[in-house]
Amino acid sequence: MKLSSQTQSKLDSKTDLIIIPILSTKGLDKLSLFDNSSKKLVNELIKSKALSAKKGSEYSIYIQANQRLTRCMFFGMEKKKGAPGYIEYRELSGSITQAAIQNKSKCVQVIASECQWADLEANQLGQCIAEGMQMGAYEFTEFKTEKSKKANITINWVVSQLKPSSLAAFQKGSKTGQVVGDAVNEARDLANRPANILNPESFEAYAKKTFKGSNIKVTVISAAKAQKMGMNALLGVGKGSQYPSRLLCLEYQGKTKAPICLVGKGVTFDSGGISIKPSKGMSSMKADMSGAAAVFGAMLGLSKLKPKDSVLGLIPVAENMPSSTALKPGDIITAMNGKSIEILNTDAEGRLILADAICYAVSKKARCIIDVATLTGACLVALGEMATAILTNEQAMVDEMKNVAEFSGERVWQLPLYEEYLDYLKSDYADIANCSEGRYGGTCSAAKFLEQFTDDIAWLHMDIASMMSNNSSKQHHIKGMSGVGVQNLIGFVLNAKVPKKS
Ligand code: BES
Ligand code: MN
Ligand code: ZN
Repeated sequence: MKLSSQTQSKLDSKTDLIIIPILSTKGLDKLSLFDNSSKKLVNELIKSKALSAKKGSEYSIYIQANQRLTRCMFFGMEKKKGAPGYIEYRELSGSITQAAIQNKSKCVQVIASECQWADLEANQLGQCIAEGMQMGAYEFTEFKTEKSKKANITINWVVSQLKPSSLAAFQKGSKTGQVVGDAVNEARDLANRPANILNPESFEAYAKKTFKGSNIKVTVISAAKAQKMGMNALLGVGKGSQYPSRLLCLEYQGKTKAPICLVGKGVTFDSGGISIKPSKGMSSMKADMSGAAAVFGAMLGLSKLKPKDSVLGLIPVAENMPSSTALKPGDIITAMNGKSIEILNTDAEGRLILADAICYAVSKKARCIIDVATLTGACLVALGEMATAILTNEQAMVDEMKNVAEFSGERVWQLPLYEEYLDYLKSDYADIANCSEGRYGGTCSAAKFLEQFTDDIAWLHMDIASMMSNNSSKQHHIKGMSGVGVQNLIGFVLNAKVPKKS
C-alpha cells in the first residue's frame, strides 16, 4: 500500500479505479473526466436520486478512461450538520482502501476537487488520509495457509484545492499517518494473536526482538525480581499459570527527565481464574492484553516520531488461569506500595497487575501516568461499543485527552471518580478489596481501586473493554481486535500539555 499525492488532476495511464468523493451532486454531470455518454448517465442518476452525496453512500459506474472501461466510484461526504472534518477524511480513506482491495485494483486515483478541505490543515489532512489507508488495509492472516496479496496498491490523491505550497505539508503529514497506522496494525496483530502463541514468556521475547537496535530500551522485571520488589499483586494473578508474570519496560529517552508513563494491561488470557468465566465468548479473552498492545504499538510509533518528552511504556503481563496453585477468593496479598488487598473475585485481575505497574511508575517519578486496560464488562454496559471510558484524579488530563480524541476519532467519555466509590471496596480483613460485591458502578469502582496506587501523581485511566473488538469491517475499522488506544496515546504524547498534579 503506497500513498502519493499531486496537485493537478491528470489521470494516470495505469489508473484502474477512479474515486470521486462528493459533497453535493451539483455539476457532477459536467466533470471533464466524463465523455458525453457518461455525462448523460450521471445526469440521470442524479435526477433519479440513485446517486447521492449523503455521508456513507457509495455508487459505482464504469466510464471510458485510458481507452478502457474503468470503474468510477462516488463516495458521499455530506454531513447532516457542518463540513466534513479530519475524522471524515480518515473514514473516507479507509473506505477507499477497502474498495480498492475488493476491486483488486493496482492503481487508484482519488479526484478530490469536490471536497472542500480548504479550511483544514494540510499536514493533519495528510496524516488522516494515510492513517485511514494503513488501517483500512489491515488483515490478520498469520494463521491462514492462503495469504492474500493485497499490498500492491498505489493510491494517488489528487489534492486539488490545496494551496500548492501546502503539498509538502500534506506529504509530511502523510508520513506521520503512515507510522501511526502501522502502529495501530501492530497492536491489532498482538491482540489477535491467540494465547497459545502469545503468553507472558513469548511476549517478553517478542518485545526484545521488536525493539532490538532501536531507540527504545527494553528491560524486564522478572518474576524473581518482582518478588524482591514486593509486586505480589502482579505475581498473584499469574500463580495458576505455567508462565510466571513479569513487567516489561519500554524506555524512550527524550529531552525531558520525568517520563510520561503509559501502562497497558497485559493479561494474555483471562479465564477468570478460580472465579472462572462462563465458556460463552471466553475465546475473546485472548485479547485481554489489548491495553498492553496499545502501549506496545504506541511505543513503536513514537520510536519513529521521536517526541521531545521521555516516555516509559510499562506492560505488566500475566496469564489468569485456574489451578491448584492459583489465587483463591479470600486470599490476601500485598502490593508494592504496602497496601493489602483481599481477593473477593479472581476475575478482577486486571486491576491487580496494573496496581503494581502503577506503583512502579510512581517509583520512577513519572510526570504523569496513563493506563489503558480492558478492565470491566461494566464499561460495555455503561457505554455500549461506542467509546472508551476515561477517569482521572486530575481533570486537566481528561481535558487534554478529549482534545486529542477530537482529532483521532477514537471516542472517549468521562465517568466520575467520586470518593464514595471507595465504600464499594471495603474489606473486613485487608486495606481494600479487589472488587465490590454488588454489580453497580463497576467501571468507576475499578478505577477507584487503581487510584489508590497513584500516590497523587496526575493519572488518567482508559477502560477500553467497550472498544476491544470490531464486529464487522467498516471504513478504517477492520473486523477483529481493534487496536484501540494507539492513536490517542501517540496523540497525547505528541500534542498534549502534560499537567502537573495540583
Ligand atoms: N477482562 C475482563 C473485562 C472484560 C470483559 C473485558 C468483557 C472485555 C470484555 C476483566 O478482567 C473482568 O473479568 N472483569 C470483571 C470484574 C468483576 C469480577 C468485578 C467483570 O467485568 O465482570
Ligand atoms: Mn477478569
Ligand atoms: Zn481481565
